[in-house]
Amino acid sequence: MGMTLNRLVIAVDGPAGAGKGAICRWVASRFGLEYLETGALYRVVALLSLEGGGLSGAPELLARKARNMPFACRLVDDRFESLLAGRDVSWDLRREEVAMEASKVAALGPVRDALKEFQRHYGGEKNIILDGRDIGTVVWPEAQRKIFLTASVEERAKRRALELQERGETVSLPRVLEEMKLRDARDMGRAHAPLVPADDAVVVDTTHLSLDESRHLVAALIAPLVHGTAQ
Ligand code: DC
Repeated sequence: MGMTLNRLVIAVDGPAGAGKGAICRWVASRFGLEYLETGALYRVVALLSLEGGGLSGAPELLARKARNMPFACRLVDDRFESLLAGRDVSWDLRREEVAMEASKVAALGPVRDALKEFQRHYGGEKNIILDGRDIGTVVWPEAQRKIFLTASVEERAKRRALELQERGETVSLPRVLEEMKLRDARDMGRAHAPLVPADDAVVVDTTHLSLDESRHLVAALIAPLVHGTAQ
């Protein structure tokens, strides 16, 4: 695009369970960056869809709701908090039912367009890191650093199952693996902004890395850029 940005933008994309959130929250705190977990936007729209009795068949109506939704978010310590009309919905957004509906609403072009503006304006002129599926390809093609974070589907399912277990839920690994594959197929196979690394993205495979090692690797990719800008 050849455009000069008046702020540093770091785009982190990748499939579900690659560790994007845990890595980005840490990196954001460490370098004093704004952080936007864009999956939360799609999940909030999914919540609105479910509240309306399942609106994925009415893309225009859903897009209008998305454009006007009273959404706000913030990073509090190591937690990304999502607010809808002032109510903390962070916990609701993690529900499996919401995740499944989110992958449906995320396939709708009008909904994606409606959420793009929010993702472009969030944080004003502050340096920012965003994670999602199409940040480096569609939302911020001119980002100064693009990272594609991935791991084998088996490893991602294992991490996800562990996370659910720690929350006290009963989980079956084969089932989590099946759901992970289904979401991968939806995210990668859709016509609008499918999950694919940008040509100029650095691919980071965390299959054999600990969370700590992944965080430091990503930090090393970002540090030279942060130090080159005045915050
Ligand atoms: O990252 P997540 O699991 O919270 O994302 C929820 C859904 O939204 C998932 O199906 C992918 C989709 N999504 C997207 O299409 N584009 C983004 N930038 C972020 C999420």
